Amino acid sequence: MIVAIDGPAAAGKGTLSRLLAEEMNLAWLETGSLYRAVALRVLRDGSDPGDSRAAVGAAGHLDAGDLSDPELRREDVGQAASRVAAISEVRAALIGFQRRFAHRPPGKVRGAVLDGRDIGTVVCPDADHKIFVTATPEARARRRFLQLRESGTPVDERQVLAATVERDARDTERSASPLTPAEDAHLLDTTNLSIDAAFATLTAYISGSSD
Ligand code: CDP
Repeated sequence: MIVAIDGPAAAGKGTLSRLLAEEMNLAWLETGSLYRAVALRVLRDGSDPGDSRAAVGAAGHLDAGDLSDPELRREDVGQAASRVAAISEVRAALIGFQRRFAHRPPGKVRGAVLDGRDIGTVVCPDADHKIFVTATPEARARRRFLQLRESGTPVDERQVLAATVERDARDTERSASPLTPAEDAHLLDTTNLSIDAAFATLTAYISGSSD
């Protein structure tokens, strides 16, 4: 079974995917971590995330250690990730790994859940279930602000909102695999839903008991 969960920043994709993976015994791949890892390598090399040669070079050299680096979650790495993600050669370099994970997930599992921006549209258009998770920019920025504050990062909520809107615009307007719901995706708006309520809706979609 392949489940594709797409949506903009801080909509709840990560938490919902993790819960789903646990409940249904699926392997989980946060595909954003691949783009974040490319971006972090580029930043550490002192290059510009918009420099396609540097970004494509970094994409060709990723290893497992890159994906578990705690620095991946930094806000500036998220912004740089959305810049490397707009480069079609970077996307091409990462698609094979994502498809292999989806079709042959590691471990004794029933399948895989992948979260990202283009899983239902480009990486796994054949996924068994597609969900597009969204929420208003204000609700998403509030969640990201609270997460950052909890992790001890001093931030201003208005700046988090501005950065969220900027990243959404870049992800939606790029020509390479833009962020958009697949035609056959279920839309899940989490603006006014608790995690429990959002998860109940998600599992109802997957079990086919709700359209
Ligand atoms: O966790 P958050 O929603 O903030 O972001 P993420 O999923 O870690 O993704 C970081 C960036 O990687 C996004 O802003 C996208 O530009 C890019 N990305 C992408 O283009 N395609 C994907 N399948 C996943 C992420």
